[in-house]
Amino acid sequence: METVNYDVQQGVAVLTFCNPPVNGMNHDVRVGIVQAVDRANDDDSVKAIVITGANKIFSGGADITEFGTPKVTKHPILRSVIETLEFSQKIVIAAIQGTCLGGGLELSMGAHYRVAHVDANIGLPEVKLGILPGAGGTQRLPRAIGLEKALHMIVTGAFVKGKEFANTGLIDKVVEGDVVQEAVAFAQELVKNNAKPKLLRDEKVAFEGDAQAFLNEQREKLAAANKHYPAPVTCLDAVAGSVFLPFEAGLKQERRLFMGLMSSDESLALRHIFAAERAAYKIPDIPADTPLREIKKVAVIGAGTMGGGISMNFLNVGIPVTILEMKQEALDRGLSIIRRNYENTMKKGRLTAEQVEERMGLLKGTLSYDDIADADLIIEAVFEEMSVKETVFKELDRVAKPGAILASNTSTLDVDKIASFTKRPEDVIGLHFFSPANVMKLLEIVRGEKTAKDVLATSLQLARKIAKKPVVSGVCDGFIGNRMLYRYRAVGDQLLLEGASPSQIDRALENFGFAMGPYRVGDLAGLDIGWAIRKRKAAENPDVPYEPVIGDKLCEAGRFGQKTGKGWYRYEEGNREPLVDPEVEKIIDEYRASKGVVPRTFTDRDIVEQCIYALVNEGAKILEEGIALRASDLDVVYLNGYGFPAHRGGPMHYAQQVGLFNVVRSMKRFAKASPQAAEFWKVSPLLEQHAESGEPLK
Ligand code: 3HC
Ligand code: NAI
Repeated sequence: METVNYDVQQGVAVLTFCNPPVNGMNHDVRVGIVQAVDRANDDDSVKAIVITGANKIFSGGADITEFGTPKVTKHPILRSVIETLEFSQKIVIAAIQGTCLGGGLELSMGAHYRVAHVDANIGLPEVKLGILPGAGGTQRLPRAIGLEKALHMIVTGAFVKGKEFANTGLIDKVVEGDVVQEAVAFAQELVKNNAKPKLLRDEKVAFEGDAQAFLNEQREKLAAANKHYPAPVTCLDAVAGSVFLPFEAGLKQERRLFMGLMSSDESLALRHIFAAERAAYKIPDIPADTPLREIKKVAVIGAGTMGGGISMNFLNVGIPVTILEMKQEALDRGLSIIRRNYENTMKKGRLTAEQVEERMGLLKGTLSYDDIADADLIIEAVFEEMSVKETVFKELDRVAKPGAILASNTSTLDVDKIASFTKRPEDVIGLHFFSPANVMKLLEIVRGEKTAKDVLATSLQLARKIAKKPVVSGVCDGFIGNRMLYRYRAVGDQLLLEGASPSQIDRALENFGFAMGPYRVGDLAGLDIGWAIRKRKAAENPDVPYEPVIGDKLCEAGRFGQKTGKGWYRYEEGNREPLVDPEVEKIIDEYRASKGVVPRTFTDRDIVEQCIYALVNEGAKILEEGIALRASDLDVVYLNGYGFPAHRGGPMHYAQQVGLFNVVRSMKRFAKASPQAAEFWKVSPLLEQHAESGEPLK
């Protein structure tokens, strides 16, 4: 198909632009639309013009792949295309279906009339990319649907169904059938009635009451809720122009504000993440058309913390789940927790009673492996012990039907070893969910040495279906996320040892953007969990001398975190506010003395640099070893699984922004300042190489 197809149907020119996958408004499309509109205006057989997108999608907006390239500003820019529609002598009708977002919606608002399908997804999601609608959206949408609704759409980026715009100035006709045919018929009717071009720019912005007071109040709320993000407040400032400025001046102000956001660090980070989350699906040796295995029934082994949450993901999308447990009591407990979770969601108004029963109706419990023999996918979530995994996988190998995918949710164990317990290692894969598994977005997909390509492709597809953000990892201790986390936590403890306090470390990282610093997270999760793991590992390796960490000392003093009212902080009864505790300072002082350390001071910047660069260095080693495919995958992991602030774009993106040269120099400085930590700060050769060459880490 041509970039813009020109077809005349019963006196109406139908212009269909095409730029897969979502008809982004790239330069070719922009040129094509202007030429086609001119042609239709010169074509005597044409009385009106319908403009639409190919493949049942209007448009996903400006073509994001052009951002940062000279093509974005190459004429005609989107604003000029929109003006071409506005000032067309023959009336222009936009036929909207599928998605109509960002620049796509802005284009349609340049048309004189709009026909939309009831289910079309309409929105201005630019704010999610850290920018604002820059082709008149902040000026025309308020004129179409009023200030309050337009502001809400623009600052949230929400998608709204076509049917919601019935009887508004945005959509003239909402239809259920073929949108293009309906638009052509509507065009003919308009021509018959001698209808004139209707321009949104000529409308007034509707608002009842004091618009200035309303905007002031909204501005304050947005500023408080978006401390690290300038885009929402700037969106509001642009929208305010639609109320207080003449149309052209409002457009000019919108443009100026748009340019400012476009070059902001926050937008760069958010756009990086948008691309990174989509790149993570692409595995070089797995073609997009790899045949997939059908997943109609799922079984989960273990109804504990993870098993229950994992099951909910499938129930939520209508896939039946059977959970297998060892004992009836554990099974009953697991099933009742799932019910309680759904009922809590219902109480919050996000599910109806019927939906709860529908989901629970898809769930079965069993104590017998025979009941899961027909599952297409079986996910094991039993205790984290190789011997238990061995028992389970041998059983699965015995009962599972041929072609079933056998997955483990292990967070640390060797997936290849687990696969070796079966006679079908090609069917085995790691599906590492994060807790709470029904909430956390990240899914680490662990590709074993022998994992079949279609098993990996099916797992990626399944992740999309259950709305997870997948990242493929190779097999290593901790995979991508926990392996990096281990270094982050270790550097925190090293900083404590050398003189920083838990509250200083937490504060520095919270100011950087983390919702909680590592010591507050520790108190929330419970310090005894890590302690038990360390003790178990020490018992399993009696030949390796065990070096107690500071956290052990806290646990020995009965400080397990919030649940015992004291951990790295103390907590007053019924209050989660962390309070600095002199007892902890004493424990840390004694620990330092036992190691002969004379404390020194650290700035908040030192702390942030050390913690983040520890992630970066380990990330580079993970890339070196081929455990991750690309640097941006590490960012997806850290953002969706570990609360890394989105406006920083992930540790690897952040390092790139600081400059790898500077990052490596800092790491060498840390090693010099602390001889005990010199080994820790050994720079990854890959990182060193990129710091020298100036080439970004890919
Ligand atoms: N430009 C170019 N490519 C785009 C795109 C866009 N605006 N939107 C999506 N894509 C690409 C994706 O990168 C992906 O490519 P891939 O197949 O190579 O990985 C493909 O389209 C499919 O995207 P998704 O995987 O996200 O598919 P979904 O079906 O889940 O979602 C969507 C489709 C709702 C369109 C979603 O991609 C989306 O929200 N896109 C962003 C829309 C947006 O932010 N538009 C505003 C752009 S900025 C703008 O218009 C500025 C203007 O105001 C001046
Ligand atoms: P859990 O202790 O809450 O649940 C494990 C469940 O498995 C228990 O209900 C137990 O009765 C059952 N079980 C044990 N052996 C079994 C067997 N042979 N057959 C059937 N059921 C059996 O443990 P949790 O936290 O759910 O962890 C499960 C797995 O998930 C582990 O491998 C863990 O490393 C991993 N994981 C845990 C995360 C967490 O935050 N809890 C996060 C990510 C992964």
